[in-house]
Amino acid sequence: MIQQFDPKTDQYQAGGNGIDWQKDYGTPLVESDVSVTLAIDGVPITVPEGTSVLRAAALAGINIPKLCASDNLEAFGSCRLCSVQIEGRRGMPASCTTPVAEDMVVTTQNAALAKLRRNVMELYISDHPLDCLTCPANGDCELQDMAGAVGLREVRYGFSGENHLDAEKDHSNPYFSFDPSKCIVCSRCVRACEEVQGTFALTIDGRGFDSKVSAGQDEPFMDSECVSCGACVQACPTSTLMEKSIIDEGQPDHSIVTTCAYCGVGCSFEAEMKGDQLVRMTPWKGGDANHGHSCVKGRFAFGYATHKDRLREPMIRDSIDQPWRPVGWEEAIQFAADRIKAIQAKYGRESVGGITSSRCTNEETYLVQKLVRTAFGNNNTDTCARVCHSPTGYGLKATLGESAGTQTFDSVLKSDVIVVIGANPTDAHPVFASRLRKRLREGASLIVADPRYIDLLKTPHMGEGIHLPLRPGTNVALINALGHVVVTEGLEDQDFVSRRCDPEAYQQWRDFIVQEKNSPEHVAEITGVPAESIRQAARLYGKAGNGAIYYGLGVTEHSQGSTMVIGIANLAMATGNIGREGVGVNPLRGQNNVQGSCDMGSFPHELPGYQHVGVPEIRQRFAEVWGVEIDPEPGLRIPNMFDAAIDGSFKALYVQGEDIAQSDPNTQHVEQALTSLECLIVQDLFLNETAKFAHVLLPGASFLEKNGTFTNAERRINRVRKVMPPLAGKEDWEATQDLANALGYPMNYSHPSEIMDEIAQLAPTFTGVSYEKLERLGSIQWPCNEEHPDGTPTMHEETFPIGLGRFGLTEFIETEERSNRRFPLLLTTGRILSQYNVGAQTRRTDNQVWHDEDVLELHPHDAEERGISNGDWVGITSRSGKTVLRARMTDRLQPGVVYTTFHHPGSGANVITTDNSDWATNCPEYKVTAVQLEKVSQPSEWQQRFQTFGRKQQQFLAQATDDASAS
Ligand code: SF4
Ligand code: SF4
Ligand code: SF4
Ligand code: FES
Repeated sequence: MIQQFDPKTDQYQAGGNGIDWQKDYGTPLVESDVSVTLAIDGVPITVPEGTSVLRAAALAGINIPKLCASDNLEAFGSCRLCSVQIEGRRGMPASCTTPVAEDMVVTTQNAALAKLRRNVMELYISDHPLDCLTCPANGDCELQDMAGAVGLREVRYGFSGENHLDAEKDHSNPYFSFDPSKCIVCSRCVRACEEVQGTFALTIDGRGFDSKVSAGQDEPFMDSECVSCGACVQACPTSTLMEKSIIDEGQPDHSIVTTCAYCGVGCSFEAEMKGDQLVRMTPWKGGDANHGHSCVKGRFAFGYATHKDRLREPMIRDSIDQPWRPVGWEEAIQFAADRIKAIQAKYGRESVGGITSSRCTNEETYLVQKLVRTAFGNNNTDTCARVCHSPTGYGLKATLGESAGTQTFDSVLKSDVIVVIGANPTDAHPVFASRLRKRLREGASLIVADPRYIDLLKTPHMGEGIHLPLRPGTNVALINALGHVVVTEGLEDQDFVSRRCDPEAYQQWRDFIVQEKNSPEHVAEITGVPAESIRQAARLYGKAGNGAIYYGLGVTEHSQGSTMVIGIANLAMATGNIGREGVGVNPLRGQNNVQGSCDMGSFPHELPGYQHVGVPEIRQRFAEVWGVEIDPEPGLRIPNMFDAAIDGSFKALYVQGEDIAQSDPNTQHVEQALTSLECLIVQDLFLNETAKFAHVLLPGASFLEKNGTFTNAERRINRVRKVMPPLAGKEDWEATQDLANALGYPMNYSHPSEIMDEIAQLAPTFTGVSYEKLERLGSIQWPCNEEHPDGTPTMHEETFPIGLGRFGLTEFIETEERSNRRFPLLLTTGRILSQYNVGAQTRRTDNQVWHDEDVLELHPHDAEERGISNGDWVGITSRSGKTVLRARMTDRLQPGVVYTTFHHPGSGANVITTDNSDWATNCPEYKVTAVQLEKVSQPSEWQQRFQTFGRKQQQFLAQATDDASAS
């Protein structure tokens, strides 16, 4: 089934690991050291003990008919279509629920079995509308296939008995329909929702002929607990649950495997196409990050790629008060290059810079930083990871020696205690959350440190769950208290510490952590978390066979973000929870390629592969390949660029795929900086908030329109494949290359695979990576080099890259952003499932039905004190600014803490966030802003200005687009 891939022509269909991922083997893979040999229809086959007869037959190339079985679900044994005969056994057992046995002799085809199967099919078909020709599943229906396979020729029971043929359809979900008249009650959907997704939104109500599938309390899907992951739709063997895109457009004619461009889980999908039109995204079973599962974003929210708002041609203008002028690519690139040259001639080499994006591919990101370091001739390159996970890079490098998470996602299936700090996986990393919840259902314990009561704590059928609802800004105090209990109660792994860690650094940490100021009793005052809860959590983690820590932006986006990452690594080292499956320190990266954008040398002080620009030998290696000298001085970080722009020394900026005007803190400061620039070049899909301040607009290509790779949160490099031509004619890397050439620095790549070859030449952790190997292995987790030619699923197994692990001191220092009488509440921010980051993509899809505005969540007590009711407009004032949002009461929060999301630009969440940032990396302190609330009746002044400015810029764009179509 594996087909050869030619990176030059991008001819590809399927592949990876030698398994035919398009085939359904009936029941899940079983792992066992014991092998069993049996004969099926005379064919000998050896499989792991515990494998079903159905799966063994499929592996032997014998396809037994089946309806209720699927290889991503536990066997259920309800349809009896898979019945077989086994020598020495009575009756006709279901092969899906019968495990193999040594020397078993199985018959899958004879007259008696054929009769039984036809009978089963007759019963099913007697309650099924015979409208195959007009059914949307026509050509892709397992019921139809099975009717053919068993040779069904008549339905003796007729269609006049009790049936469901008139059952009412449910079209409430924007992406899929439920037509119960087609349901065969196989229960695959119910089991997919439970076993794969973990939501338990579906049940089978009633018995016998009355039985039917229902969502929630027999309500429309949209009113139920359903989170629209699509697992049930994928599991359904008929058209009962069906994608609306297929109902509207018909069946696809070909498919190409690619990687989701939303979150850091990095799910693989089959992009199912009709010509150049994408009609369905089906999660790819061969995807090592998702194993065939998905969430609503990757599965359904792809409509933005062809949305009418997409920029379709380059545009230029002299100032932001002027309308746009649509031009060809060549003119736009030349205009940009001329401006950059003129600015550098007038203000100096350091007056220009570039920002790479965690949404773009590794190859694109690499090229932008290379353009800055070669064609611009400075190191003024930074990335949006600055504002999310830069403390992860710093903290993990300082302690473990590598700026990345230590595990695979699958590792969580071997954890006994799972600690989640400042992350909300069910919303932000949903496919990983499903795996995590599976483990919780199997009995693992959960500890959540978060100011909010997150959904993970409500996991159905899970074991022990502890919530530590700490005050925003007190993470470090909490992690110190956990460390204190581990040490003072003798829960350290002395063997690991003495073998693997630097003794001096460890002793210093130990002396520090045992101090009374770090005791739970003392820290309870600071964090608001009862001492006993802290002790309970520390004991649970400290005594765990395998304890794993997962964390998110609730750790990093603080003034002590890096300190907290160090604290987490300390705790993992002290308890020996590093270097094997089931344990580790795992940053959950927000965007699809946060890991990659950091790996690719986007930061001003580091060349690709985290190699410091200050080291002459490193610069020399790059100079040899790049053909120019590299500036030895680290360049400007994003906040420094803003400050320098306002001061007048920084004049031109190239921003690829990143909306800094919406995503960076203190919006008014950012707007002032962008307005101060003489040349802002924005390369993006839409006229985003940053683009409204631009002089050059270069239309970006969506992930469907280009080739490259993304690296997910588990260091997994996955291929992104072009499934349709770029809307504006160029992949993003081509535009960057053109700009470099126009500036006089030659770049001549003909395919992103060549860029990857150069990365492999320069970045030590990538030396074994190539497109050819990616095709062969499916994906690769770096480091991939001579020592680890197929990649490294688990890091630090024997040693750390720095030799011995280094404990760091983590003194808790209270943030300057404190609540007081004027600003008595603490605002913290987060994400929700249906929207993604700044919302530029998801706002242009039907995901809007779930979240069409950002709201302010607050505790009823805080609301009552201020006379605020549900749905009121509330003015939120901080030391930085003011914005207005609608209020929503919730008891998920403790009194004194309020919460919002930042998916809609007009909400102005970042108008109120401050300039405070992490001491080591300048990562903004988004998670702590002291605010006051008041009931108001109109938008804030900033919101009114924002609307006026936005309308004007939209008019400029509309005018330019009209001019272009008229000419
Ligand atoms: S879409 Fe997902 S959450 Fe909703 S019912 Fe189906 S499996 Fe369950
Ligand atoms: S909706 Fe589909 S998967 Fe669910 S029971 Fe009916 S036929 Fe089976
Ligand atoms: S979990 Fe993340 S990568 Fe997977 S489908 Fe959802 S958004 Fe895409
Ligand atoms: S496939 Fe085995 S009983 Fe349905």
